[in-house]
Amino acid sequence: MSQPPSPPLLDVRGLSVSLPGPKGSRLQALRHLDLSLAHGESLALIGESGSGKTLTALTLMGLLPPGAQVEGHVSLQGQSLLDLDENDWGHWRGRRVAMVFQEPLTALNPLQKILAQVMEPIVLHRLAPDRASARDRALAQLARVGLAPTQAQAYPHQLSGGQRQRALIAMALAGDPDLLIADEPTTALDAVLRVQILDLLDALVKERGMGLLLISHDLALTARRVQRLAVMYGGRLMEQGPAAEMLTRPRHPYTRALWAARPRLGGGRDQPLQVLPGGVPSLAQVGPGCPFHPRCPMAQPRCAAEAPPWTGRLACWEVTE
Ligand SMILES: Nc1ncnc2c1ncn2[C@@H]1O[C@H](COP(=O)(O)OP(=O)(O)OP(=O)(O)O)[C@@H](O)[C@H]1O
Ligand code: SF4
Ligand SMILES: [Mg+2]
Repeated sequence: MSQPPSPPLLDVRGLSVSLPGPKGSRLQALRHLDLSLAHGESLALIGESGSGKTLTALTLMGLLPPGAQVEGHVSLQGQSLLDLDENDWGHWRGRRVAMVFQEPLTALNPLQKILAQVMEPIVLHRLAPDRASARDRALAQLARVGLAPTQAQAYPHQLSGGQRQRALIAMALAGDPDLLIADEPTTALDAVLRVQILDLLDALVKERGMGLLLISHDLALTARRVQRLAVMYGGRLMEQGPAAEMLTRPRHPYTRALWAARPRLGGGRDQPLQVLPGGVPSLAQVGPGCPFHPRCPMAQPRCAAEAPPWTGRLACWEVTE
């Protein structure tokens, strides 16, 4: 008899999140998201500022702000994350799913040396028999991300931006998670360091067979370093697919606009970028239709009235495949 298929590492279906708004209103932040990730797979969640990327990550970490309401299905290795209580999350967070937060300086404790911060998840999740072994394990983790024992003894403010980012990655990896979420891990870094950090994440995924959800607004930088891309706008998914295919043939008007706006190698200094006009709507501004309709060159009257259904690949009335 054949074995039943094992569940994907991460399975998100129909995820909607609303937040408390002014005067008792609700703000719909995420709408009907479908995402999945296998062990050893990397997926980049791409979108402009305010499109809902961090809220998606916070949902997967059980860290949504108070008053948030969540609907849909979110599971990690078959376990529903929406059914976990705070006690359960104490065992899951950092161990099964870990996150490199968007702001390195606020995510690190300024009063604690780096080594102590990397040891914390190892001790908390009892991944070493004693403190001496936990220390060795933390030092090995720091070495893997390129930090020397002297840097392990530094306070966060004594490290450069790139070193702090490496320390955060070491902290997130210390619990040996099945799923690593990296939220804009390269934003504060220069171009050379950005490439180094992304290459490091790529190597770690291959080494450990964990899943990587890489969050970025920088399409040009991330697209070639992940297997799949999911493009978000206004709290909805616009397009999702294999990265190589989406790079050569972006279909959705928003994906195409992002592609056209990216800087190109060899483009020449005098070649202007095709800037995407307008801006991402605030949560209160998103109506019932396609959130991209005010900026979309292909918009039709029905785009403003009704949101297109998600086909598993695209959400657009005008482009269906
Ligand atoms: N606690 C909150 N209360 C109300 N609105 C919020 C809250 N957190 C986020 N938002 C709103 O939800 C939307 C999505 O925010 P989110 O932080 O997920 O965006 P993002 O895609 O991560 O953007 P960025 O690239 O700037 O980090 C934004 O409009 C933001 O203002
Ligand atoms: S549904 Fe309409 S507005 Fe939205 S991307 Fe497609 S054509 Fe543009
Ligand atoms: Mg964010």
